[in-house]
Amino acid sequence: SSENVNVRGALIVLEGLDRSGKTSQCSRLHSYLAEQGIPAELWRFPDRNTCVGQMISSYLANKSQLDDQAVHLLFSANRWEKRSLMENKLKSGTTLIVDRYSYSGVAFTSAKGLDIEWCKAPERGLLAPDLVLYLDISPEEAAKRGGYGGERYEQLEFQRKVSQQYRILRDGTWQIIDACLPVEDVEKQLRKLVFDCIIACRNGKSLSPLL
Ligand code: TYD
Repeated sequence: SSENVNVRGALIVLEGLDRSGKTSQCSRLHSYLAEQGIPAELWRFPDRNTCVGQMISSYLANKSQLDDQAVHLLFSANRWEKRSLMENKLKSGTTLIVDRYSYSGVAFTSAKGLDIEWCKAPERGLLAPDLVLYLDISPEEAAKRGGYGGERYEQLEFQRKVSQQYRILRDGTWQIIDACLPVEDVEKQLRKLVFDCIIACRNGKSLSPLL
């Protein structure tokens, strides 16, 4: 309807350790929004479809070696190459449900021992999420779920470090959800938070850059 012409979509990011359930909750959210008739797309980072994404993918599969700094900047470039499309989608009213974003970038690289401020620098100026949903699970619980693939970071010791870095990054704007609750309970909490956020964006909450 004409009153909806200028409303923007919401930028909603899910973060968490590997095996925290992010990916399946993202697709559940996406179907929920579709059922509600809310225009939405499911995105993920790394986006392995671009040239940069393919370099990242080959690094994660241990098929290529790169310095920690170099791969960090590739992950960041992979977000920058999608920035303008992201902004256009949001401005045209599409909500984006994004599986991992800058916080993964900073948490995973700083877990290797790199300076956290250095890690944050290339993320500045990307679009700031309207909502960050952190699926909280201990590295031990996540490991028990099994199904770590063979990728580079999917090891308990490293996930412990990532978990500590996520703790440092968290601020009052994040919503922390207990990822050990039954899937349906997690889903219910996420639906409510996402719905409220979409309404806030429709009501004029402005898009801003990541600082
Ligand atoms: P992802 O594709 O979400 O993992 P999966 O294939 O298991 O679903 O992410 C791949 C890995 O990349 C994951 O271990 C997290 C890591 N990562 C970074 O190190 N930096 C980043 O900026 C992002 C987005 C992910």
